Amino acid sequence: MKAPLFCSLALLTATVHAADGDDTRQLASLPAAAESTLRAEMRANLLALNEILGLVSTGKFKEAGQIAEQELGVSAMGKHRSLPFEARPGPHMPPAMHSIGMDGHRAASEFARIAASGDRDKTIAALPSLTSGCVACHYVYRLR
Ligand code: HEC
Repeated sequence: MKAPLFCSLALLTATVHAADGDDTRQLASLPAAAESTLRAEMRANLLALNEILGLVSTGKFKEAGQIAEQELGVSAMGKHRSLPFEARPGPHMPPAMHSIGMDGHRAASEFARIAASGDRDKTIAALPSLTSGCVACHYVYRLR
């Protein structure tokens, strides 16, 4: 239990620092339309995460894996391709930000593979990999 406890404490410390108004995140300037697409996608991410946690908590590992793949995984990449260029977040992101996003999609697909096996312990152990990408990006980039 030592490692997860340490992680929570480290995160808590980071949160306290973030709350003191000393915001050192990099500004990513996206066109207004792309920002609105990104924000809507983000809210959908949070919803998917909540569904996945609910499914895992009731032992529905395969279903959790399906949502993870569809909503957060590699399968969810490129869904804004048909939007006008200025409404697509990806091409307007700094390359490093974009690659954090891609890593997050890959991590969710990896979680989906583990959950699909139906192995309770492995699925639970893999849960933090779903949120690591969210944290990695949110602590480095802001839109305003
Ligand atoms: C590649 C970067 C990146 C990744 C990965 C990422 N986000 Fe975000 N997210 C952002 C940025 C940038 C904002 C806007 C921050 C600001 O207001 O300046 C944001 C905003 C949000 C918001 C607020 C939406 C609103 O209506 O304003 C939520 C909720 C959110 N993210 C959830 C998540 C969750 C959950 C994950 C992981 C499953 C995630 N994000 C992964 C970059 C990312």
